[in-house]
Amino acid sequence: MINIGIIGCGNIARSRHIPEYDSNSDCVLTGYYNPNTAKAEEMADRYGGKVYASAEALLAEPMIDAVSVCTSNDSHAALSIAAMRAGKHVLCEKPMACSLSEAEEMVRVAKETGRLLMIGLNQRFMPAHTEAKEYLERGVIGKVLSFRTTFGHGGPEMFMKVKDMNSWFFRKEKAAMGAMADLGVHKIDLIHYLLGERTVRVSARLNTLDKRSDSGELISVDDNAICLMETESGALGTVTASWTYYGRPDNSTVLFGSKGIMRLYDDPEHSLIINLADGNVITGRASPMDFRAPSGVIDSWIESIKAGRVLEADGESALDAMKTVFAAISSSETGNCIKI
Ligand SMILES: NC(=O)c1ccc[n+]([C@@H]2O[C@H](COP(=O)([O-])OP(=O)(O)OC[C@H]3O[C@@H](n4cnc5c(N)ncnc54)[C@H](O)[C@@H]3O)[C@@H](O)[C@H]2O)c1
Repeated sequence: MINIGIIGCGNIARSRHIPEYDSNSDCVLTGYYNPNTAKAEEMADRYGGKVYASAEALLAEPMIDAVSVCTSNDSHAALSIAAMRAGKHVLCEKPMACSLSEAEEMVRVAKETGRLLMIGLNQRFMPAHTEAKEYLERGVIGKVLSFRTTFGHGGPEMFMKVKDMNSWFFRKEKAAMGAMADLGVHKIDLIHYLLGERTVRVSARLNTLDKRSDSGELISVDDNAICLMETESGALGTVTASWTYYGRPDNSTVLFGSKGIMRLYDDPEHSLIINLADGNVITGRASPMDFRAPSGVIDSWIESIKAGRVLEADGESALDAMKTVFAAISSSETGNCIKI
């Protein structure tokens, strides 16, 4: 039985990590830490396990094998590194870190300590995306020449019990980055996963257009970003990330290949649909997107721990996605195309 500790008992821990661990018969929820202890106590009462007075106390618990780091972005790297040094395997939420050097250090410490490091890049596990990967590997749409991918919704406040425009999500000192790192990183990682290629060049523009704190000032991180990417094979595409899609969210990806076009979560009826150049149409098995469905991250993480290697979304692939995010920020600041 794998003993799990939870660091940070906010929205993602409560809605995804904790219930998904609870449903997995190979692990047990053993401990929780949150600065506001009431949140940790609520989880311990509901799911069992002990509340710790600090992250250090939780990490010093010999019984705990692995932790989920579900805190605000500013503490991801330090907590993950401390956890690996304390002998724990780490599943850390995205974005993995606030700077390139922090992200690189996380990967380095994973290697040095021999601990597993996975990042919560859950788009890899969405049914139409795993199905798409199968079609791509079989060459059904040929070579991917270009793509567009978008993740936009009304912003983090949509998921808060009480709307808080002064939340850490909107403050640079806690979040470091906005929509591009929060949502864009998912889509960059998805493109890397689907194409099996990394990004080599980036031009981007990040702006804060609409979101304001309670005092009426624009928030200090980007709420919209558009990034032009070139992958290793020369495929060109755009990644759009937005916190200001105030109607229906857009979580779609379209891949334009030499033999056809694949649409993922783009068609109202079919989560995966392929229009081939010869006129044939293939529709996938995946059902429509359902945000209440289990993410698949935790089951894969538990299988990874059992296997002794990260099966999907390891620290290195997350680092590749973050390199693209940081290049996009740098491109927006300098006006230059950034080579990675
Ligand atoms: N994979 C996804 O799709 C996805 C979705 C939502 C959020 N997230 C990520 O998960 C992380 C948390 O987001 P959230 O929506 O749960 O935020 P949240 O504000 O609801 O929860 C964060 C929790 O962490 C606690 N915390 C802050 N600093 C801490 C520290 N040093 N030690 C322990 N606890 C600490 C806070 O008290 C809070 O309870 C963010 O990095 C976010 O980007 C990922």
